[in-house]
Amino acid sequence: MLDRLAPRALLLALLCCCGVRASSSSSSPSPCPARCECSEAAHTVKCVSKDLRTIPTGIPGYTRNLFVTGNQIRRIGPESFRELENVTNLSLSNNRISEVESHTFAGLRSLRSLDLSNNQLAIIHPEAFTVQNESLQELNLSRALYNHSSVMDLATSFRWSSLATLKVLDLSHNNLIFLPSRIFSHLSSLRRLQLSNNSLVAIHNATFLGLDRLEELDLTLNALRTVPEEGLLELDSLPTATLLLGENPFTCTCGIEPFAAWLNRSQGRIRNADGLVCSFPLSMRNTSMLAVGTLTLGCHQRDAGADLALQTSYVFLGIVLGFIGLIFLFVLYLNRKGIKKRVYDLRDACREVWEGYHYRIEIDSDPRVSQVSAGVDA
Ligand SMILES: *[C@@H]1O[C@H](CO)[C@@H](O)[C@H](O)[C@H]1NC(C)=O
Ligand SMILES: *[C@@H]1O[C@H](CO)[C@@H](O)[C@H](O)[C@H]1NC(C)=O
Ligand SMILES: *[C@@H]1O[C@H](CO)[C@@H](O)[C@H](O)[C@H]1NC(C)=O
Ligand SMILES: *[C@@H]1O[C@H](CO)[C@@H](O)[C@H](O)[C@H]1NC(C)=O
Ligand SMILES: *[C@@H]1O[C@H](CO)[C@@H](O)[C@H](O)[C@H]1NC(C)=O
Ligand SMILES: *[C@@H]1O[C@H](CO)[C@@H](O)[C@H](O)[C@H]1NC(C)=O
Ligand SMILES: *[C@@H]1O[C@H](CO)[C@@H](O)[C@H](O)[C@H]1NC(C)=O
Ligand SMILES: *[C@@H]1O[C@H](CO)[C@@H](O)[C@H](O)[C@H]1NC(C)=O
Ligand SMILES: *[C@@H]1O[C@H](CO)[C@@H](O)[C@H](O)[C@H]1NC(C)=O
Repeated sequence: MLDRLAPRALLLALLCCCGVRASSSSSSPSPCPARCECSEAAHTVKCVSKDLRTIPTGIPGYTRNLFVTGNQIRRIGPESFRELENVTNLSLSNNRISEVESHTFAGLRSLRSLDLSNNQLAIIHPEAFTVQNESLQELNLSRALYNHSSVMDLATSFRWSSLATLKVLDLSHNNLIFLPSRIFSHLSSLRRLQLSNNSLVAIHNATFLGLDRLEELDLTLNALRTVPEEGLLELDSLPTATLLLGENPFTCTCGIEPFAAWLNRSQGRIRNADGLVCSFPLSMRNTSMLAVGTLTLGCHQRDAGADLALQTSYVFLGIVLGFIGLIFLFVLYLNRKGIKKRVYDLRDACREVWEGYHYRIEIDSDPRVSQVSAGVDA
């Protein structure tokens, strides 16, 4: 036991001495903010899970990678990041940030990667993501929005923050229900767009407008039941992008044929197209979307069914009419005596009329009478 501890203690003592000597001999010791760990060699400062309420001051100028994660930070503004011109990677994930002011990151002239994942952003000002040097390439907003309402603020900030150099945008796990039209239209360099685990139900015209260089679009774990013609045209407007569409509740009823045909046509650019399956109806669950066609859906059988229903209704109508007829006959039968009498009366009346008529015809056809009338006419 002692044998093992002794070298460690010696090492510790040695390290302490060196540390003391280094700090005493160095004319400008590099300070490190309280509750942070600084590594000048790695140009890295980490203030991780230290219950910090604000961004610490006195972060050394050499810092390239700054991690202030897992704390209780609620507000950040332009004053939070001063004289940090060398920071290229900034992670503020796992805090409670709810508001990002305009120009908060503007002074970080070298900033390339900004991670705001796992926060509660409710208010995002229009120029929240502006960086003086337009150097930002990666923005991580995974699980970062407080609720769906923040998406309008977000769209505005994408418009006004000069993000023309952004290559990667992560908006996964945000409960997004829809994307405002043209939300990405100013992110013309975007290569990867992460939208997985949201609640998107549709893809509309102009949703992905301006993403001419997109290489990957991840829409897994959303609420797409199908993608109608409008959405298919929109996806076709991203010809170079690989698409991820898994884990959506695809509903394989008759309307889905155009989408299924499109999937079959576009297999080449859909990752794991073979793995896409129907979720509803239950009878179709786990059926490959690529195998879904007119035949499997039985869309024509439905027409036959409609015919059958029509035939059934005719039969029913016939029965009802027959029944009414029977009742009519029964009523006639019950009144047979009165009817007989009436018929006789009618017959007598007819006879009288007929006889009178017959009599008149005989008079009319009497040649003498007609001659007389002809003579009068002449
Ligand atoms: C940023 O880094 C450069 C080069 O490493 C260095 O010369 C400069 O002093 C650094 N800036 C600050 C504020 O320390
Ligand atoms: C800094 O960000 C870049 C992407 O911009 C990434 O490739 C790199 O790994 C990050 N470095 C660190 C230390 O996180
Ligand atoms: C964004 O952050 C989450 C964790 O907070 C991580 O899992 C994800 O990979 C990040 N996205 C990108 C594009 O790096
Ligand atoms: C702007 O960013 C680029 C890298 O994106 C860097 O090389 C350049 O030095 C930056 N300019 C200033 C003034 O910081
Ligand atoms: C989002 O949160 C804000 C602030 O609490 C609230 O006013 C708004 O109604 C919420 N929106 C949704 C869609 O829940
Ligand atoms: C999707 O996001 C919700 C929160 O919005 C989370 O609870 C859930 O675990 C996520 N699902 C996956 C598979 O990541
Ligand atoms: C989509 O919108 C553009 C203009 O924003 C319009 O020209 C086009 O006709 C629309 N397409 C569809 C299918 O609605
Ligand atoms: C669907 O397939 C998965 C894996 O292939 C399997 O675990 C699941 O039980 C299947 N569900 C049904 C309803 O067949
Ligand atoms: C899918 O496309 C192939 C040709 O690429 C075709 O032979 C096949 O019949 C199609 N399948 C369906 C279900 O449409």
